[in-house]
Amino acid sequence: MPLISKPVGRLISFEGSEGSGKSTQIEHLADHLGKLGYDVVTVREPGGTELGEQIRSIIVHNSKGDEMCPETELLLFAAARAQLVREVIAPALMRGAIVLSDRFLDSSTVYQGIGRNLALGPVNHINHFAVGNVMPDLTIVLDVPTQVSLKRIHQRASDLPDRMERENIEFYNKVREGYLFLAKQLPQRLVVIDGSKSETEIQRRIRTLITERLNRARGPVVRASKASAKRKPAARPKPAKAKA
Ligand code: TMP
Repeated sequence: MPLISKPVGRLISFEGSEGSGKSTQIEHLADHLGKLGYDVVTVREPGGTELGEQIRSIIVHNSKGDEMCPETELLLFAAARAQLVREVIAPALMRGAIVLSDRFLDSSTVYQGIGRNLALGPVNHINHFAVGNVMPDLTIVLDVPTQVSLKRIHQRASDLPDRMERENIEFYNKVREGYLFLAKQLPQRLVVIDGSKSETEIQRRIRTLITERLNRARGPVVRASKASAKRKPAARPKPAKAKA
């Protein structure tokens, strides 16, 4: 059975390497859309549900994580996503919300499929099994040169780099190229934005894109009445990483 029928909301996912500025841009966009009266829900992957957050800590911070094989990693990301879709995203879309997701299924295609060299056929299959018919209406890929991305990772306060962040430059080159490749394959859904432009310029481009897309295809998204137009908080705040 489809997870969503007659969806009136929109799902917009943000993709890109670590340090590409996704989270900052999601915050700006959520504020902007909230002020315009839309019902906005922000989520991040992996996580967004109690189960998903537990899975996140296994993947990202588990001390035995370095022994995790790519297949296990793929299935854990898919499990967290399946839960998030059913618990949060599908109900929000059904009531007409705009859901902004910090990563979605393309992260698995790029990180596990292209980055970790898993066969793309099974990766796609598992991705689609996890999300059912809940697919992004638009995916914004923030593209930054690998060196910029790595520099930003290292500048992030005094955090210890997590398991994914400890990957080497070749891995991150593959991730970057993977997103650009995917955007060429799926130009209707994925739009690449130069993440090395100024924060304000990127914000401006995203707003223009969203305005075009919100009124396209299935008709305009209904705005909540101004009185009830409160932006929903992020489904779960990012847990603080362990300090060095
Ligand atoms: P982030 O919260 O900083 O984006 O970190 C999530 C990490 O998990 C990041 O390194 C990308 C990685 N990831 C995958 O490898 N596959 C996935 O499917 C998802 C959602 C994330």
